[in-house]
Amino acid sequence: MDKLLCPSMMCADFSNLKKDTQELDQAGVDIFHMDIMDGRFVPNFGMGLQDFELVRSVTDKPLDVHLMIQEPSKYVEKFADLGADIIYIHPEADQQAARTLAMIQQKGKKAGIAINPGTSVETILDLLFLVDYVMVMTVNPGFAGQQYLAYTDSKIEKLVGLSKIHHFKVMVDGAISPEKVAQLSKNGVTGFVLGTSALFGKAGTYQEILTELRKY
Ligand code: DX5
Ligand code: ZN
Repeated sequence: MDKLLCPSMMCADFSNLKKDTQELDQAGVDIFHMDIMDGRFVPNFGMGLQDFELVRSVTDKPLDVHLMIQEPSKYVEKFADLGADIIYIHPEADQQAARTLAMIQQKGKKAGIAINPGTSVETILDLLFLVDYVMVMTVNPGFAGQQYLAYTDSKIEKLVGLSKIHHFKVMVDGAISPEKVAQLSKNGVTGFVLGTSALFGKAGTYQEILTELRKY
């Protein structure tokens, strides 16, 4: 199955975000991953609305927005109207996650849940038939450049199994290295958020790096 390679744009070159986005687009990325944070759900701030609008204005490829914010329903309409194609919420941050996911789909967007390393599959079982994507955080969210949390591997395996029943795509986000892309694509993971562990600041052009990753 073709994998989805998704650059984590909070790791991009902010001295020239427009140029970096164009280069990534030309290099053949599949989805631009936009990390939005509120300093409450996670202790950081990620990208801003203007960054989102700039990336949106430069590329026609899909943008996903990873809402690492409390009460994400408050910003679904905003990002849908700004041109997000996929909207991920954290069910840990939303007491009405099922309603918010329905709201995303009513706006004509794909709905996803992103789950923290400490969130069990058992607690999200009743959301799985409502989503198009499940993104497993393989680091505690908020920062790039962290270490991969190996204990999330078993959760990924469980979700790959469940994805065959509920027809969602399994994505991973956090410290994803080329080795992890190789291992997890073999295990049935569809999408990979690529930050500082596999893409940004690595040797070679974006094109060369992506070509290598697609070989796995
Ligand atoms: C972390 C973000 C990730 C991160 C990925 O909260 O959701 O997208 O930026 O970057 P690396 O691959 O460096 O962990
Ligand atoms: Zn992310």
